[in-house]
Amino acid sequence: MGNFLTTSGFTRRELEELIETALHFKSGANREKTLAGQSVALVFFNPSLRTRASMQVGIYELGGNPVILEPGGTSWTLEHREGVVMDSDKTEHLKEFVRVLERYVSAIGVRTFAALEDWQLERTDPVLSAFQRYATKPVINLESAMHHPCQAMADMMTIREQFGRTKKKVLLTWAWHPKPLPMAVPNSFALAAAQFGHDLRIAHPSGYGLDEELIGEIKTQAEANGGSVEFSTRSEGAFDDVEVVYAKSWGSSLYYGNANKDIRDRSIYRDKWIVDEAKMQRSNDAVFMHCLPVRRNVIVTDGVIDSPNSLVIDEAENRLHIQKAIMTKLLGA
Ligand code: CP
Repeated sequence: MGNFLTTSGFTRRELEELIETALHFKSGANREKTLAGQSVALVFFNPSLRTRASMQVGIYELGGNPVILEPGGTSWTLEHREGVVMDSDKTEHLKEFVRVLERYVSAIGVRTFAALEDWQLERTDPVLSAFQRYATKPVINLESAMHHPCQAMADMMTIREQFGRTKKKVLLTWAWHPKPLPMAVPNSFALAAAQFGHDLRIAHPSGYGLDEELIGEIKTQAEANGGSVEFSTRSEGAFDDVEVVYAKSWGSSLYYGNANKDIRDRSIYRDKWIVDEAKMQRSNDAVFMHCLPVRRNVIVTDGVIDSPNSLVIDEAENRLHIQKAIMTKLLGA
């Protein structure tokens, strides 16, 4: 295991092993200090509660030392493009940043969101790719433009805890939000659900489809792992019979570079694409999941998120355990 950038490229068995390790950390059966004497850099270009706190605590619990850096905040602004004349606002190039950091740390975690400006560029994850290009030590994706694999693995662990190993009917549903958001969470959730062989339904308004190449991979993974994938543009009907409801808002690739048009056009979906009690009643007593942070009574009603079927806090806790498993796999003896 070199880097952890997406769940793509890992076998189902390898991903299941990570969950087993995470469950051992969670139960207290495993108290190994697999990072003793090691430091891990956590580079945050964007805000975070769960990722930052769970990585920091996880590294500490494994006996290691987290080094948190915020480019443009408490550390220098960073340029990632090759060959540019750095006469603008960027102070340091990633080439030096990464190679200097590697003299101090054993791995680098990176959070770098999509700017939602240039779809063709951002779908290639340019900043994360630059870290990967310059690093000789493991790079961990803490949410990039296209993927949030640590979140997806915590989600798969949460479903496994709730239902065991059996495959489930899982709905990934778009939800209205006042402004466009990145696609990393739905991309990684859908991919991981397919890799774990669930029967996946992806619901979104017309024009809000996920990346076509990724959808191709999701279909391939679903078929290879005994699952299925189907699509719906109906908000209510998509809830019929599902056992897991995973809500997330995301911006359409068609509107990258034109957020105001996305905001205008999506306004017709307000109060229609929300997870509420009536929709949940169409499901098969489904659990409710969301990566957080979530806007209450916009994405999901209080009644749903506060119900006994809501797993959002368990998902957040599981970030800690799964990331300890990932770091142990990457850096353990
Ligand atoms: N789910 C998640 O990644 O949360 P943060 O943005 O707070 O880290």
